[in-house]
Amino acid sequence: MWDEQCLDGTEKEKSHPLYFFSYHFPLPASFFRFIMSLSLVSIVSQTTLAELGRASNTRKIFEESNQRRQTHGSDVCDFSLGNSVVSPPQAFREALQQISLDPPSNVHSYLPTTGLPQLRENIAKCLTKWHNVEISKDCVLMACGASAAINIVLHTILPADSEVIIPTPCFGEYIRYVENMRCKVVLVPCLPNYELDVEAIRAAINDKTRVILLNNPNNPTGKVYSQKTLVDLSKVLMDVFEHRKETTPDNPSPVFLLSDEIYRLIHYDQSTPIFSTFAAYPYSFLVSSFAKDFALPGERIGYICISPALVDQCLIDALSSSTRVLGYVGCPSMMQHVLCKCLENGFDYAPVLAEYRKRRDRLHAILLDAGLQCPLPEAAVYLFPKVPEGVTDKEFADLLRAQNVFVVPGSSFLDPTSVRLAFCVDMDVIEKSAPKIKLATQQARAHHN
Ligand SMILES: Cc1ncc(COP(=O)(O)O)c(C=O)c1O
Repeated sequence: MWDEQCLDGTEKEKSHPLYFFSYHFPLPASFFRFIMSLSLVSIVSQTTLAELGRASNTRKIFEESNQRRQTHGSDVCDFSLGNSVVSPPQAFREALQQISLDPPSNVHSYLPTTGLPQLRENIAKCLTKWHNVEISKDCVLMACGASAAINIVLHTILPADSEVIIPTPCFGEYIRYVENMRCKVVLVPCLPNYELDVEAIRAAINDKTRVILLNNPNNPTGKVYSQKTLVDLSKVLMDVFEHRKETTPDNPSPVFLLSDEIYRLIHYDQSTPIFSTFAAYPYSFLVSSFAKDFALPGERIGYICISPALVDQCLIDALSSSTRVLGYVGCPSMMQHVLCKCLENGFDYAPVLAEYRKRRDRLHAILLDAGLQCPLPEAAVYLFPKVPEGVTDKEFADLLRAQNVFVVPGSSFLDPTSVRLAFCVDMDVIEKSAPKIKLATQQARAHHN
């Protein structure tokens, strides 16, 4: 009876008392599964259960907007996830075609854990140009996206129980990455203009501080940190290192800067270049990916760049080892070949930037017209307007959602004063959202008065 009607139990299920009961008093498999689901707690670890409660809010909103689309179709304006509709540079499509027509023999093979040597070389050449600092192939290691790159660096350089300073607003997933390494997050709010508050960072540093995790340009604010800010921060960190050399001469460690520069090319004011973290501070790591600049988030391809002042074989081996320990092994082979070819051929980013600028300017005008306060972002693909007075970020997001406009409350980025809109969507979505945003803002005001 069991075999016919009930499940083919796993070892864990067979050891369950209900298995015995069900064998003698046959019940439908669905009943057994239901009862087993009630005891899920014993399967999923407490740590993971706790994490479930903090699952990415942005993803949840994105999934809800997808569901809403099934009933409300094109009336839905989804500004939740940074999933760009803008095409990658034309050179990428050409390289993709070249690789598919004439694939290298190792196009689907395991590649070295550090990545395809020629791609590392080509990325190093781009970084040398962008940073105006000589960067060699040895500094560059490929990773499955910026998320993997951050985790690999943290795993490599964070001793347990150390502390990581994160300026806010920030990409919310950073918190989980640091806590996953059994380390403590120390949040330091930025200044009202979203520049780093260097004095507050200085005050937050203690003997356990090991890393400052920056996002430049920033998600969600679109802020690009000024040269002065980065140089001031560097002076503070150099002072800390000098002090540590005096107080712990046997084992002094600098505070490392880990700079996530995933939005570097989406920078609207090309006349003031983004100041190089490497030029500012020698004890730095940079991470990036092709998810945003090249609009290839699903391809899972990014990289780590070690400061030229730090690079040595032991560090490369350690990062490589962390890549395997964390289970990434390498990153997608075919995409490495395509990007290698694309960078070799050269690419024109101006048309891509023009597409983003058009969307930024239009949605920004819509927000201002609705009466919202919103700085014009210098970079990236997000607008971060202030929430109208008298409502919380979640209440304002709910009012917008009632109009089929999906945004992410600022508390997901550790700043509940604002909401975030990703503008890398179709222009008609932006146009359609104008009256809806205006109405929700009026409702928020009426709610307050
Ligand atoms: C600041 C920041 N860092 C990292 C990531 C994740 O990048 P990837 O998709 O390359 O892992 C994102 C994605 O939105 C991001 O905004």
